[in-house]
Amino acid sequence: MPKLRLVTILLLSGLLVLAVAPALAGHGIMEKVKEANEPFDSLQIDTPLPKNTVQVKEEYQGGAFWVLSRKDSIGRFPCSRCHGKKKSFKREGAALAHGDIELVHGQGEERPECKSCHNEKNLDLLSDKKDREIDFDHSYQLCGQCHFRQKSDWVGGAHGKRHTYWIGKRVVWNCATCHDPHSPRFKKRWPSTYSLPLDK
Ligand code: HEC
Ligand code: HEC
Ligand code: HEC
Ligand code: HEC
Repeated sequence: MPKLRLVTILLLSGLLVLAVAPALAGHGIMEKVKEANEPFDSLQIDTPLPKNTVQVKEEYQGGAFWVLSRKDSIGRFPCSRCHGKKKSFKREGAALAHGDIELVHGQGEERPECKSCHNEKNLDLLSDKKDREIDFDHSYQLCGQCHFRQKSDWVGGAHGKRHTYWIGKRVVWNCATCHDPHSPRFKKRWPSTYSLPLDK
């Protein structure tokens, strides 16, 4: 039966090729397992940055991360539109221009006033306790001066919110994306699933 022998030989050599080829090419199963055991770093995957982000002046697990910018969302920015070098406004101007701003931020001696945060020499900037100038996009530096615990939680990812997906570049929300710096406490509100008591 030469036909049958030929088929067997063909089959056997086919199997041999299948078994040997991957090993020869260096892509055997064990190689794959070893490759997969390399530490996987999701930060190394290059993803495009969303619009309106700035790089945080701080590191996270040894790498860079980004934060949503603020200047493009502040209605009265730049402040220098009205605040020039000299004070030419009348006092009641403040009520007209900033009457909506009510400072409800902490109590007692530590509570901040306008000049604890805004740079009196140049209102287009913020400034901290040591009079260091801080850009509005980096206001987390200002908040962190008094709220260092929340800030280090924020750097580590335990406070706040990540804007992008877990993979790729890390972009987070700014403190002022969530908290109004003038009145940082959230208003109390009912849970969205609240329904009226049955006896009403
Ligand atoms: C539309 C004009 C206008 C813009 C824009 C504006 N201001 Fe003013 N601001 C005024 C006027 C008018 C006053 C009152 C007179 C004064 O103190 O110069 C005032 C006063 C202030 C004061 C003193 C308030 C007080 O009670 O003593 C601060 C602080 C201030 N502005 C901060 C800012 C900051 C920060 C910005 C930008 C984020 C800004 N302003 C943008 C018009 C403006
Ligand atoms: C000069 C110091 C100082 C700076 C700067 C500062 N805070 Fe505060 N903040 C305080 C004090 C003091 C309290 C009151 C703490 C308390 O009652 O225990 C407070 C309270 C708070 C609270 C809790 C409010 C509540 O009533 O429960 C939040 C939220 C907050 N700050 C957010 C911020 C954010 C966001 C920034 C930056 C825009 C900021 N703070 C900048 C001093 C500061
Ligand atoms: C705890 C720090 C802090 C204090 C105190 C503070 N500010 Fe601000 N203010 C900020 C920050 C930060 C922003 C930018 C907020 C953002 O990113 O949206 C801001 C924004 C503003 C703006 C622009 C608001 C808008 O949306 O157009 C004005 C005007 C202003 N502040 C005036 C004042 C005045 C007047 C006082 C005092 C009565 C004051 N601020 C006290 C931190 C502070
Ligand atoms: C994604 C929104 C978000 C961001 C971003 C955020 N916070 Fe908060 N923060 C919260 C919430 C929610 C609470 C709890 C408020 C409550 O219990 O009423 C809170 C509470 C706080 C408190 C009150 C004390 C506490 O720990 O409960 C402080 C102070 C504070 N945040 C500061 C900051 C600072 C500083 C930053 C930036 C470095 C920041 N937050 C960024 C949402 C945010």
